[in-house]
Amino acid sequence: MGKVIAVANQKGGVGKTTTAVNLAASLAATDHPTLLLDIDPQANGTSGLGIEPRTVATSVYEVLTGDVPFEDAVLQTEMPFLDAVPSHINLVGAEIEMINVLEREQVLKRALVRARRTYDFVVVDCPPSLGLLTLNALTAADSVVIPVQAEYFALEGLGQLLNTIKIVRQHLNPDLEIEGVLLTMFDPRLRLASQVAAEVRRYFGDKVFEAVIQRNVRVAEAPSFGKPVLLYDALSAGSKNYMALAREVIRNNLRYLHEEHAEEAPPAPVAPPTLSGDGQHHRTPPQPHGLAAVPAEGPASPPRVRYEDVARERADRPELPGAPTPGLEPPADRIRLASRVNDPTDDDAPDDAAAPYSPSS
Ligand SMILES: Nc1ncnc2c1ncn2[C@@H]1O[C@H](COP(=O)(O)OP(=O)(O)O)[C@@H](O)[C@H]1O
Ligand SMILES: [Mg+2]
Repeated sequence: MGKVIAVANQKGGVGKTTTAVNLAASLAATDHPTLLLDIDPQANGTSGLGIEPRTVATSVYEVLTGDVPFEDAVLQTEMPFLDAVPSHINLVGAEIEMINVLEREQVLKRALVRARRTYDFVVVDCPPSLGLLTLNALTAADSVVIPVQAEYFALEGLGQLLNTIKIVRQHLNPDLEIEGVLLTMFDPRLRLASQVAAEVRRYFGDKVFEAVIQRNVRVAEAPSFGKPVLLYDALSAGSKNYMALAREVIRNNLRYLHEEHAEEAPPAPVAPPTLSGDGQHHRTPPQPHGLAAVPAEGPASPPRVRYEDVARERADRPELPGAPTPGLEPPADRIRLASRVNDPTDDDAPDDAAAPYSPSS
């Protein structure tokens, strides 16, 4: 049976969608049948795979409202091992429409029963909230990837997410694990970004992925072309970072993949040798990913590194690369998508490096 991995953090702009799309694509690139499931009404993950959300006939919305079986919403993508279930702006209404549904937190879990047999991995891109959609994802998921933006003060607000995970474990999904905390948009040239990263590691210990996603302009450009970064620029730092993350996820789930497949289905395709590195990791049993090591209430000590300090350091060093390149001109057919990404009314749109961190977002 496949593993369902939710990518969640109620803060917008931390790299959830980027991670969901590129982790899914990188897993698929290793010949693991993978599904990207977009349950964010903003549908950035859908468009990031080249699917125009406004034109999809059947989205996850119809699945959640029970109008169509899950299989009918599955679309193929450019990559042979990657399928997608698109989102649609209609999904905004789903939270309200589902209020009277019996066991409304379990709808996605029930819908995914068959998909678990079809795919090795189902990666779920969650909206930037802890509402019913995210709750459905956490209830359906085996584990959760928590992206944190290395440049902003990353830990603030995480207590709320960890608490939600704990409550989901108590009441809805006792087996939910933390797959890992992922440092995103890391700029190694910013001294303070490294301090933020160190603080995240100090706090979460071995829950933090070894793989770190650097700030990389190719990663930011790729969605405007409707591609995961791997198809847009395979040699970019972003592609390498996300491949490293995929390798780590596979490595941590070898036992899971092999055992489950032995029971449920034909053997999983073995990842190409290039992915196994020294091969040693294959013999290491996966680490338990329980919540035990993670305090529920967020950081005990106040932040030592503040966003303002990082922003000041960046402002003082104009030579450093910042947010997505201004003036990037995507081809005409993608301009509409790109302009949506820049829609100021779009909470999930890129904040630019200058946007201050707001604890309420
Ligand atoms: N590693 C990265 N390098 C450069 N830009 C990035 C990177 N990761 C994310 N971004 C950009 O940051 C913005 C927010 O990322 P996104 O994945 O949409 O966050 P979320 O889904 O959490 O709201 C997007 O414009 C995205 O292109
Ligand atoms: Mg998103």
